[in-house]
Amino acid sequence: MALLILILLLLLFSSPTIHGSLLPNHPTKDKIMNPFDACWRFDPKWSSNRQRLADCAVGFGASAVGGKYGPVYVVTDPSDDPVNPRPGSLRHAAIQEGPLWIIFSGVTLVLLKNELIVNSYKTIDGRGAAVVLGAGGPCVTIQNVAHVIIHGITLRGCRPGKRGVVRSSPTHAGHRLGSDGDAVSVWNASDIWIDHCELADAYDGLVDVVHGSTRITISNNHFSNHDKVMLFGHVDGFSADKVMKVTVAFNWFGPNLVQRMPRVRTGYAHVANNRYDGWEMYAIGGSSNPTILSEGNYYNAPNNHKAKQVTKRESGGWKNWKWRSTKDLFLNGAYFVPSGWGSCAADYSSKQRFYVDMGFMVPLLTTDAGILSCMFSKPCI
Ligand SMILES: *[C@@H]1O[C@H](CO)[C@@H](O)[C@H](O)[C@H]1NC(C)=O
Repeated sequence: MALLILILLLLLFSSPTIHGSLLPNHPTKDKIMNPFDACWRFDPKWSSNRQRLADCAVGFGASAVGGKYGPVYVVTDPSDDPVNPRPGSLRHAAIQEGPLWIIFSGVTLVLLKNELIVNSYKTIDGRGAAVVLGAGGPCVTIQNVAHVIIHGITLRGCRPGKRGVVRSSPTHAGHRLGSDGDAVSVWNASDIWIDHCELADAYDGLVDVVHGSTRITISNNHFSNHDKVMLFGHVDGFSADKVMKVTVAFNWFGPNLVQRMPRVRTGYAHVANNRYDGWEMYAIGGSSNPTILSEGNYYNAPNNHKAKQVTKRESGGWKNWKWRSTKDLFLNGAYFVPSGWGSCAADYSSKQRFYVDMGFMVPLLTTDAGILSCMFSKPCI
């Protein structure tokens, strides 16, 4: 018996090494970490070397550089003016043309007066601060741009933006029709990474990826208290979304979520090593022939005996849609209905590929999903 326990413990704690070349040389003995986190959280100098985070993404958004090659911009002013933002405010930073690594000093709550339109090559990095967006106001729009990283931000209580003029760059303020009330809306954008955010209670989706957006990773986030969690793909039959490739990894879904974790149309989603603690309707759904690989997830079904199925097809004629499950763990009667033929594997480059563990490892790999409390000059563990 003692021997058996010893072997089990050895298996458990030797596991990080099997991430192989994806792990840097930081010691990982004292904590099991997924490949995103193992890349930077052991570094005691993370706060003086923040831009290294940009090298830590894997999955389809692995090339998102954010503000890596630009200066650090410190947000010190919590005010918001959608048309003429003051220097020092989040909006003033987000609309600039050049790359910026945006961090926060003494600012916790930013009450946006309209949607925050983020320009290309920006990182919004909440590490070491406690930054909250939403709180009854509009939230983040990533539209017609590339290379945006959002890390360590709480987006809670996001509501629709108003019709009106909103600045999107130093030289352009345009008339907007009002935003949907998503926490993060990704629209015709590429190379996006959303990591370690706290996402709850928006008016529309928590993260929506639409209009031909691609090369996106959504990782290490905590999602709770919401109906329509994530929509990938604009409307049925919208062919521009065929290019869409999204990785959803190491997130923690629950409690009090209803559906769409994610709901996918037309494109491709790799859903790997996520923790699902119940759902009201279903976890993964879709329409318009999307391709979905569910790999190594931890599906803990709700008690409602009518809601045990992980999957939901929103229309008939789905027998040929490629939806597969591998290495998943199904608890409390959860089950996945597969469909289609042929390979469904993610066509990752070597930079994008990561080790996907078995579903039973997921609680250990997602314990720190959501906001981290990092101390300056200490490893963030
Ligand atoms: C999508 O974004 C690109 C810039 O990245 C822009 O040139 C193009 O016009 C946009 N397409 C649409 C349909 O808005």
